[in-house]
Amino acid sequence: MRARGPAVILLITCVLGPHVTCQDHTEEEEHDKQPAGPGHHHWSYQDILEWDKDYPECGGKAQSPIDVDTQHTVFDAQLRPIQLSGYNLSTAETLELENNKHTVVLKLPGTMKIIGGLPEIYQAAQLHFHWGSKSNPGSEHMVNGRRFPGEIHVVHYNSEYTSVEKAANHSGGLAVLAAFIEKGPDYNEGYEPLLSHLEAVKDGGQITEIPGFDISRLLPQRLDRYFRYNGSLTTPPCLQTVNWTIFNQTIRLSETQLDLLEDTLHHDHDQLLQENFRDPQKLNGRNVLSSFKAPVLGRKAAGEGEVM
Ligand SMILES: *[C@@H]1O[C@H](CO)[C@@H](O)[C@H](O)[C@H]1NC(C)=O
Ligand SMILES: *[C@@H]1O[C@H](CO)[C@@H](O)[C@H](O)[C@H]1NC(C)=O
Ligand SMILES: *[C@@H]1O[C@H](CO)[C@@H](O)[C@H](O)[C@H]1NC(C)=O
Ligand SMILES: *[C@@H]1O[C@H](CO)[C@@H](O)[C@H](O)[C@H]1NC(C)=O
Ligand SMILES: *[C@@H]1O[C@H](CO)[C@@H](O)[C@H](O)[C@H]1NC(C)=O
Ligand SMILES: [Zn+2]
Repeated sequence: MRARGPAVILLITCVLGPHVTCQDHTEEEEHDKQPAGPGHHHWSYQDILEWDKDYPECGGKAQSPIDVDTQHTVFDAQLRPIQLSGYNLSTAETLELENNKHTVVLKLPGTMKIIGGLPEIYQAAQLHFHWGSKSNPGSEHMVNGRRFPGEIHVVHYNSEYTSVEKAANHSGGLAVLAAFIEKGPDYNEGYEPLLSHLEAVKDGGQITEIPGFDISRLLPQRLDRYFRYNGSLTTPPCLQTVNWTIFNQTIRLSETQLDLLEDTLHHDHDQLLQENFRDPQKLNGRNVLSSFKAPVLGRKAAGEGEVM
């Protein structure tokens, strides 16, 4: 940790990182060996317990992720199915894919929207992943104490704001769709348009352009069964402005596909980028709502099983 004098000028500029990443350029940073500026992120998953020193909101009372205890979720009949619009992108469109040393981020056009299942319209900004390693699962959210191999986050912002950065500073400004990634017996074709380009961004800081595809195929089929709670970005600056949706149905990737996600990307020092997740945070009295009452029976027989 750097020592901070009382007169440090803290100028925060937000860019779109794993969620929204803010970099503070302090006087001391002028003397750092590594120059400040885009691409320089001084937080890491190794100093997770120190995040709140530089980013006080990381020590707040409504942080994410959480461990969803299904015995204590509250059924809410008002929670309509999540309805997506504009998710089937044309291959003529190009999307920027970046390894930002914390995760792999795919930038998304604002024409992709959530038009049902939330109180307002939200437009897409980006999606990214959290994962573990061969020996450790790496989802951020957990369900009944169980961690899944990986998790996708599709970040949206309330369309009443002009940018994701502005929205990120207002309660309910952001809406993230989250789904768990598990290992399944079959190759998941819907993930091919993304996974086939990971190699092109294997080094930290690399960016490539990929053709548009049907982004909805990165999410589960059942968009009507989900958990809902008020939380935060799971990376600094940990802003507590996210309306979370965690789907109950999981996504399944083949073992080869999961290995590719876990073992392709590197961050700075030629080291594998793995285990990029934060542990569950205290609920502090928050409610977790559920859009569904009973587990769907016979899912496994139907080959779609997420009910464990
Ligand atoms: C997505 O768009 C492609 C190309 O326009 C089309 O072939 C495909 O059927 C669409 N998928 C869905 C789910 O609508
Ligand atoms: C918005 O930013 C201001 C100034 O940084 C801060 O005081 C306030 O708590 C933020 N609001 C939210 C909802 O994060
Ligand atoms: C999140 O969405 C729920 C509807 O499910 C709504 O009641 C709640 O006010 C929203 N939270 C915020 C902080 O806007
Ligand atoms: C989330 O916050 C909003 C606004 O403060 C509140 O109306 C809503 O009840 C909260 N949702 C839950 C599930 O507690
Ligand atoms: C889905 O919901 C069922 C019923 O509450 C629960 O047993 C199961 O653990 C949930 N799975 C996920 C991934 O949310
Ligand atoms: Zn995330």
